[in-house]
Parts: sequence; C-alpha cells; structure tokens
Amino acid sequence: HTTMKQLLTSLTALLLVSGGCTPEEEPEATIRIDLARRGADIPTSMYGIFFEEINHAGDGGLYAELIQNRGFEDSSVPEGYTVKGDRIFPPADRTNHLTGARPHPDLSFRWNPDPIPAWRFEQLEGSGASAELTREYPLNEASPTALKVTLPEKGRIALSNCGFWGMNIEKGKGYYLRMNTSNGNRFEGRAILKLVAEDGTELCNRPLAIDPDRTWCEYTGQLTATGSDPHARFVIELEGTGTLLLDYVSLFPETFRNRINGLRNDIAQTLEALHPAFVRWPGGCIVEGIDLSNRIEWKKTIGDPKNRPGIYDTWGYRATMGFGYHEFLQFCEDIGAAGMFVCNAGIGCQGRVGDACREEDLDAFIQDALDAIDYALGDGTTEWSRKRVENGHPEPFTLDYIEVGNENHSAMYAKYYNRFYKRIREAYPDITIITCLPMSEQLGWIDGYDMNDPHFYNFPSWFYSNTDYFDRFPREEGHKTYVGEYACNMGVGAGNMEGALSEGAFIMGMERNSDLVTMCSYAPLMENTKCRMGVNLILVRNDDVIGRSSYWVERMF
Ligand code: AHR
Repeated sequence: HTTMKQLLTSLTALLLVSGGCTPEEEPEATIRIDLARRGADIPTSMYGIFFEEINHAGDGGLYAELIQNRGFEDSSVPEGYTVKGDRIFPPADRTNHLTGARPHPDLSFRWNPDPIPAWRFEQLEGSGASAELTREYPLNEASPTALKVTLPEKGRIALSNCGFWGMNIEKGKGYYLRMNTSNGNRFEGRAILKLVAEDGTELCNRPLAIDPDRTWCEYTGQLTATGSDPHARFVIELEGTGTLLLDYVSLFPETFRNRINGLRNDIAQTLEALHPAFVRWPGGCIVEGIDLSNRIEWKKTIGDPKNRPGIYDTWGYRATMGFGYHEFLQFCEDIGAAGMFVCNAGIGCQGRVGDACREEDLDAFIQDALDAIDYALGDGTTEWSRKRVENGHPEPFTLDYIEVGNENHSAMYAKYYNRFYKRIREAYPDITIITCLPMSEQLGWIDGYDMNDPHFYNFPSWFYSNTDYFDRFPREEGHKTYVGEYACNMGVGAGNMEGALSEGAFIMGMERNSDLVTMCSYAPLMENTKCRMGVNLILVRNDDVIGRSSYWVERMF
C-alpha cells in the first residue's frame, strides 16, 4: 500500500516538475517526506462506490438482464413530455424555483426514435404479417404496452432482440427465461425460442406450446446454449395464423451469488475487488429528475420486476430499475459494504427544470425517505420492513447513511433539508445524515448534519494544484466531509493516465485530511461503451469489463 502511494507520489512529482519544460530550463524541486510525523488515521469508511443509472451502468451494465426493452415500454413518452424526432422536451409549465423561469424551449434530452427499440420483426414465410405496439390488453399497470403480432394467413415470422448491443451467450450455460403471452385472437400454431449467433448459427432451439387461453400467462424455463457467441440474439419464431400478444420477455444468465433478478458476475466482481466500504444508490442527478415528476421513486423499484414501471431516465434512455432498492441493499450485503441511500429533497435538478414541491407537500417526500430507511432497517413488523420480508429478506440490511438531495442548494433547500433532518434524526438517531451542500457558507443555514458532500470534476492541473483543498477548511466538532463525486474528466478524452495520476494526487490530499474527509467515491462508476458519455471509471461491453487507469488508482488506494 505504502509502496504504491510512494510510487504515485514520485510519478505525480515527476509530472509536476517536468511538465512542459525543456531539459535546460527544468526547475529544481525538493520533496521532503517526514516519516516521523504521523498523519490522520485513514478511516475504514474512506473508499466507497457511487452507483447511478447513467451510461447504461445498470441496464446493459451491472444488471444482468439480457433483453433490452423487455416490457415494450421503451418508446412510452412520460406524461407531460413531448417528443420531436430524436429529442424529448420536458413539460413547459414547470417553474424553476431559483429563477422563477419556465424551462428554456431548447431544453431537451436524447430520445430513441425507433418505435420498438431493440426488437426486429421479419416475415420468413407467407405475407401480410405485422408487429405493432398496443395498449388494448395491458399485462399490468406497470407494463401497459404489449407487442401484438398478427399473422392473417398461414405464415412464419421471427422476432429478435439484440440485447444491449449483443448478448454474450456461452456454451453449456443456462439462461433463465420469463415470457408473457396472451392469445389475443386465437393464435394457432407453434412457437420456437432460439438463441442465434451473429453469423446465424443456432445456439439453442426450443419449441414452446402456446396456451390457447386468451388471458396473460407466463412461461418460465431454461434455455441451454450449445455454442458460444458474444454477439448473439434471442429469437421467437411463430408459425401459424392468428394474433399473439407478447410482454415482459426477460432472459437472465447466471448471476452474482445466484441472486434472482441479479447482477452480472464479471462486473459485480470488478466492483467487489475495490472492497468498497459503502455503496451509494441511486445517484446522482437521477435522484432529482429532469423535473420532479421523473425523479427516482424507490417504492417503484422493489418487488417483482414485472410490476416495476421503470422510468425515462434523466440520462436519456428508459431504465427498467431492475437494479432497484432491494437489489442495491442485497448487493451491499453480498460484498460487505454499507448502504447509502440518497433521497429527493422535494426539489428537481436545479440545472435542468429545477421545479420544487410546495412546502405543504414536503411531508410526503420526508415520509418516503423514512419509509426507505424502514424498509432497510425495520424489524419486519413495520409497514415497509414487512415488504422487505415479503421480498425475501427477513433480517434488516445495513443502511448506514442517508443523503438528502443531490447537488441542491439555495434557501429553499436549506429550509426543506431542515425538515428532513429533524424527522430523520428523531426516528433514527444513529443513521449518518448527509447534506448535499458542498464546502459553502450555506452549511451555516442548516440546523445540523453529520456530513456534507462536495463534488469535483475538473482538469488534471486543478487536481494537482488542489491537493491542499481540504487543508483550508476549519474543523467543526461532529462534522465530516464525504466527497461523493470526483473525477478528472476534463482535457483527458475519455479518461487517461494523466487524469488518473492527478486523481491519485488529490486522493492523497483527502487522505492527509482524513480527520475531515472520511469518505469518498469516484463518479460516474461505469459506462457501457456503446453508450458513452464523459469519463467513467469502468468500461463495460456485453462480454467484457475493463477498469480504466482511474479504476486501478482507486483499487490501489
Ligand atoms: O456523475 C454524473 C453526474 O454528475 C451526477 O449525476 C451528478 O450528481 C453530477 O453532476
């Protein structure tokens, strides 16, 4: 450990000393290391991970589901939003609580204009067959849209799902299927389920007898692969006549610790190898939402994934929230980490729409946060902890931290935060309450906090010249700092060694100040490389996971 840090110190010093100089003008520098003086003890809580559904870190990343758009809801436009081509616009009637302004007419986000994303329909024999979305016979409230396949005359069709940019199918492995069908207009014929390699080779071929019942029924079973391909797809072939409705088509590989609705083994192991002291969930801006209506609501992320509505994500795609609140707590338990839940403070993302709930409506938000804590920590007799038991976990989870809001500030935030603080402190005296305020004078506006949460995204030069950032802050009894997000993400392309070294330098500054900074987490944690944005710690493909240089810096520390 010490050796690695010394190595980083030397490399960092080397960069600082030699950067941009010709050999003749190379300045002299002396580095004095006082080995006799003992610094602050680095707390065991120091290094954690920050999870957010951004860049497909969940769907197409950690969450093991192989089918993309499994509920046929990916093209459902959130209420009040408007789609134009490949952009989606938030409701125009919201007001930013800081500026009083309506959303700028240009404020828009990524939208996939494909009417049925990730699915492809092909007629193999006969003619006139079609596949279209319908809301005629909803599977349930969470998944109102279904796919209606019609074969007006005898024919054969194939419906294929490409997964998240290919499915990594491995020979001899079993894949767990859940598929819901409704025999709309008496489909008569047969179905075949297949796993097919990119070159067309069949890796699995299994007939399925369709129930003549009209109402929804679920087929479950295992598909075993007879060959491997990292870019395979899942195919449903129908041969016959009539109409068949399909919904919630889900396919899982073996998961981390064999959890149902679980996580990808390779990615979960990559995270586990960091030995994170804590895991933060669900983010990030996603906590706040583009506007308040599309914030993450944890209660909609628990229970049977078939009954979860998912959400059009703040980051421009629809997310299933399959890696929901329960799965997050379970993952913490599986890797020996403490949970950190971030709740909405009654305020939407101030950098987006920035609407806020009315003061008289805030109690519902506070209660929602209290319920989340109850779900994790209650003894199984309280309302929400009973649901945890129903969901298969009788014992309480480890949830040590709650953060109120994400990157919010303002007098309204302070007022709202104070109400959360009072209620949470009264009900849970031992939980660590984090305010999302950075190192700012606004900390003086709030009634109390255990930790605050500054975020740092910058150039390498900033990180190198701010290793003393925390030296400057006065220590206050009982107040600690959690650097919830940091990354050298400017001037380093998609991330490079120089950025990673500068983070190392900054981390050493946090460690030196670890009487104040007792926790930190790099952000964002992960990207699917097919959906890249910014600089992320871990790069994921359907068949691979790679820790970038910054990952190895984190891992050393
Ligand atoms: O890490 C990505 C985003 O950056 C987070 O969602 C947000 O909190 C920050 O602005």
